[in-house]
Amino acid sequence: MTAITLTNNADLTALNTLALPARAAHLARITEAAQLPALIADPRWHDTPRFVLGGGSNLVLCSDFDGLMLQMAIGGRELAGEDGDAWYVRAGAGENWHDFVGWTLAQGWPGLENLSLIPGTVGAAPIQNIGAYGLEVAERFHSLEACDMRSGETVRFERSACRFGYRDSVFKQEGWHREGRFVISAVTFRLPKCWQALTRYADIPAELDARGIATPDARQIADAIIAIRQRKLPDPALIPNAGSFFHNPVVDAASAERLAAANPTLPRYAQPDGRVKLAAGWLIEQAGWKGKDLGPVGMFEKQALVLVNRGYACGADVLALAEAVQADVRQQFGVELRPEPVFL
Ligand code: EPU
Repeated sequence: MTAITLTNNADLTALNTLALPARAAHLARITEAAQLPALIADPRWHDTPRFVLGGGSNLVLCSDFDGLMLQMAIGGRELAGEDGDAWYVRAGAGENWHDFVGWTLAQGWPGLENLSLIPGTVGAAPIQNIGAYGLEVAERFHSLEACDMRSGETVRFERSACRFGYRDSVFKQEGWHREGRFVISAVTFRLPKCWQALTRYADIPAELDARGIATPDARQIADAIIAIRQRKLPDPALIPNAGSFFHNPVVDAASAERLAAANPTLPRYAQPDGRVKLAAGWLIEQAGWKGKDLGPVGMFEKQALVLVNRGYACGADVLALAEAVQADVRQQFGVELRPEPVFL
């Protein structure tokens, strides 16, 4: 086992995509699964709070972290198995998500293309069940391996054990992610051989039309989605942000009817359970926040759901804007917006 690299009083500004300035008392860079049980066997860390950091793309650092932060950098990707129906592809938790998607496509294993250009790591993907353009990772998930930080044992989670929902999983439901209970070391995806293009989502047909593509392959869908995302969403390397800042709220059918009667252009998406998902970006835009700043932060001018750091913001600035947006949407529509990122 390679020794763990440990940094004390570590600067986290470059490790979170909102570029918020904060420090961790201790930062351990985890490059191998075997380092995790070694870490909990070390008495130095027995009473130290823990937090697991992936790509830092879904995180609001409100203050310094007086504990041990685990920076997940376990690499590796491989074809773990194959049967008549599917390829089973396994990747280390620290692999960059978008690079991993590109690699699967280059190998000739389609299925993840709709999730192109999502920031973050492979290990973080199942925690919040990342989704975009008509696909959630749950639909391609096979299993994951995690270290139970109470016992040091490796535990395997199958799909049903993950209890996936819209931007949700058992890791969030049980608070395990927040307390660093199970640390994911690798994820295996099931990519069906009977691949079907998923091109129904609003912007995709127009983008493929503009490219003159009638029957796209997976790489062409990935390229179309990358172009759509680049047009709408700010590149965190240039304009720091954490993607969608709020969940799209899901309300009961009667509330959705009421809102739609008063707001005929309100986008609504029927859910399998009879409830209705609303577009948070639309609500925020109607509440007057699209392209509007509060101090050094603002709601992005091309996608009102994305909170951006316009320069030198701190966690308190982000909280102030999030609360102002929530208050205005609550007052105008009676709808509660729930933040998507983890606040630390
Ligand atoms: N809309 C507005 N104004 C805006 C933004 C959106 O009116 O400023 C309207 C759009 O016109 C459209 C609807 O809201 O009718 C939905 O917009 P869009 O297709 O851009 O998607 P979204 O619901 O805002 C979700 C995900 C994104 C994902 C896209 C595409 C959530 C919280 N967000 O956004 O995920 O990329 O769909 O599938 O579910 C992320 O989670 O970080 C993320 C970027």
